[in-house]
Amino acid sequence: VPQLMGMLTATWFWVKGFFVTPSDSVAIIAANAVQSIPYFASGLKGVARSMPTSAALDVVAKNLNLKFFEVPTGWKFFGNLMDAGMCSVCGEESFGTGSDHIREKDGIWAVLAWLSILAYKNKDNLGGDKLVTVEDIVLQHWATYGRHYYTRYDYENVDAEAAKELMANLVKMQSSLSDVNKSIKEIQPTVADVVSADEFEYKDPVDGSVSKHQGIRYLFGDGSRLVFRLSGTGSVGATIRIYIEQYEKDSSKTGRASSDALSPLVDVALKFSKIKEYTGRSAPTVIT
Ligand SMILES: *[C@@H]1O[C@H](CO)[C@@H](O)[C@H](O)[C@H]1NC(C)=O
Repeated sequence: VPQLMGMLTATWFWVKGFFVTPSDSVAIIAANAVQSIPYFASGLKGVARSMPTSAALDVVAKNLNLKFFEVPTGWKFFGNLMDAGMCSVCGEESFGTGSDHIREKDGIWAVLAWLSILAYKNKDNLGGDKLVTVEDIVLQHWATYGRHYYTRYDYENVDAEAAKELMANLVKMQSSLSDVNKSIKEIQPTVADVVSADEFEYKDPVDGSVSKHQGIRYLFGDGSRLVFRLSGTGSVGATIRIYIEQYEKDSSKTGRASSDALSPLVDVALKFSKIKEYTGRSAPTVIT
C-alpha cells in the first residue's frame, strides 16, 4: 500500500508536465499548511525530513520559526516524533509525504494537501480568466525561499566490498575538513567552500535511541550539499546513492535547467568519491 500511495503521489507531481520534486513538495506544503489546510489552522507542531531530502524544508522552517528535525531514512523516526506531538508534516526525497493524522506516508493526503493549497491560492480568483497553477505556486516558492536544485544518482548491484571501501575512504578523508575543501576546490573551483563534513548520526529525542552510520554528508557554505549512502549490503551486491543539491537564493537564477545548475557538484561528487575507480561503473543505474 505505501508503494501504491507513493506512485499515486508521483503521478500527481507530473500534472501538466511540470515536475515538483518531493523535497520541494514537502517544503511547499509546510510553507502553506496553516493558511490553506484547516487541520493545521492553529499552527504546525514541527516539521521533519529524512537526511538525504533537500534542505528546502530547512529554509521554510527557519523563515517561519518552526521546530525542525532531520532524521535518518525510515518512517519509524517520523512516527516517533508525530506520536510525541512534535511534528505535523514530514517527507522524504523518495516521494513519501505525511502528516500526524497517521504515522505513515500517505499519497492521498499529499494530493489533498496540494488541492487545498491550490484552492486557497485561487480563492479570490474562481471564475477568473487565469487560475493559479502548481507551477505558479512552485515558482512563487522559489522566489521567496530560493531553489534547491536536486538529483539522485543510484548505483545498483555494486560489488559490496567495493562499495564499503568507497564509503570507508570517504569517512577517512573527512578527518581533515581543510583537505576535503581543498580537494573539492581543485576539482571545481566554482563551488562554495566546504564548511562541514561528517557521518550522519541521530539521537531520537523521543526514545533516546542512537542511529549511527546513516550516510556521509558534505555541507557547503552556500547551503548546497552532497550526501552518500550505502544500502542493501547483502550477498547480491550493494546500492550506492549519491544525493546532489545546489542551493540558489538569487531569484534571477532559479529558472535554470536542473542538470546545468547541478553539473559542477555532480562532477565533484563523482571525482571526489572516485566512484568509477571503486566500482568500475562509468554511469549510474538510475538518475532521479
Ligand atoms: C577552501 O579552499 C579554498 C581554496 O583552496 C580556500 O580559499 C578557502 O579558504 C578554503 N575554505 C575553508 C573553509 O577552508
